[in-house]
Amino acid sequence: MFGLSGKTVLISGAGGGIGRTMVETFREAGAQVVAIDRDPALLAGLDLAGTILCDQADAGATRAAVSAWLADHGAPDAVVANAGFTRAEHFGHLDDAVWAAEIAINLNGAYALTDPVIAAMAARGRGSVVFISSVNALVHFGNPAYSAAKAGLIAYAKAIAVERGAEGVRANVVCPGSVRTPAWDHRLEADPTLLDNVLPHYPLGRMVSPQEVANAALFFCSDAASGITGTVLPVDAGLTAGNLRFVDEVLRGK
Ligand SMILES: NC(=O)c1ccc[n+]([C@@H]2O[C@H](COP(=O)([O-])OP(=O)(O)OC[C@H]3O[C@@H](n4cnc5c(N)ncnc54)[C@H](O)[C@@H]3O)[C@@H](O)[C@H]2O)c1
Repeated sequence: MFGLSGKTVLISGAGGGIGRTMVETFREAGAQVVAIDRDPALLAGLDLAGTILCDQADAGATRAAVSAWLADHGAPDAVVANAGFTRAEHFGHLDDAVWAAEIAINLNGAYALTDPVIAAMAARGRGSVVFISSVNALVHFGNPAYSAAKAGLIAYAKAIAVERGAEGVRANVVCPGSVRTPAWDHRLEADPTLLDNVLPHYPLGRMVSPQEVANAALFFCSDAASGITGTVLPVDAGLTAGNLRFVDEVLRGK
């Protein structure tokens, strides 16, 4: 039930830290994987059935590239919208242009990517859509524009679940906590000890791994999740379950 034998899955951001692990995990589960990313060099070494190259910041180009692939191959069984980007860590880094750019990549681009896929899935009568959002969509941890976009993905997934359910399309959201991927490189270059400050916030005492995020996405795409749609699953080592530092510092007196 957890396998994807004979299934075709599109994965965006496939060349990134979580994306590469997701490609390998879906391959091990038997899927044919088509990678979507902006730079073919990022996809080197992956076992792929195809690639779609586009800059997700450009909604028109993204929709055109995905639509061209669909015209040749038909609807895939699943799509994982995983590409994401942020550099504006707090309000001090934001202006209108930066806000628009982070919404463009993380929300508008994800819509442009998935909308034609969902239409093809609905026409065929089945399909699974997974969005890799973030804990930032649920509770504020910085990166305001990115967080607004990631919260938008949750509303979008619920709209798909409700309006496309009768056509056999499921949509679910994975909200990772901090994951050590290249997305953290710029922060760790500025402060190599930064992760020491991150870990005390996590009830499990560690960050989650790319594999743990990939496992959740695989579950949603598999028949094991056939009755599940419109849901939001944190994969966050307990971060959004409560405030560990409050318990430690206020109640335990540590
Ligand atoms: N790493 C974390 O701590 C963390 C936490 C929560 C959520 N996430 C989310 O998980 C997803 C994967 O993140 P990651 O940690 O693997 O990051 P990453 O930087 O390693 O990979 C991001 C991927 O997205 C692609 N991408 C970025 N901008 C793009 C654009 N304009 N057009 C096309 N592709 C583009 C990159 O090329 C790359 O392949 C993202 O959506 C991210 O927001 C990550």
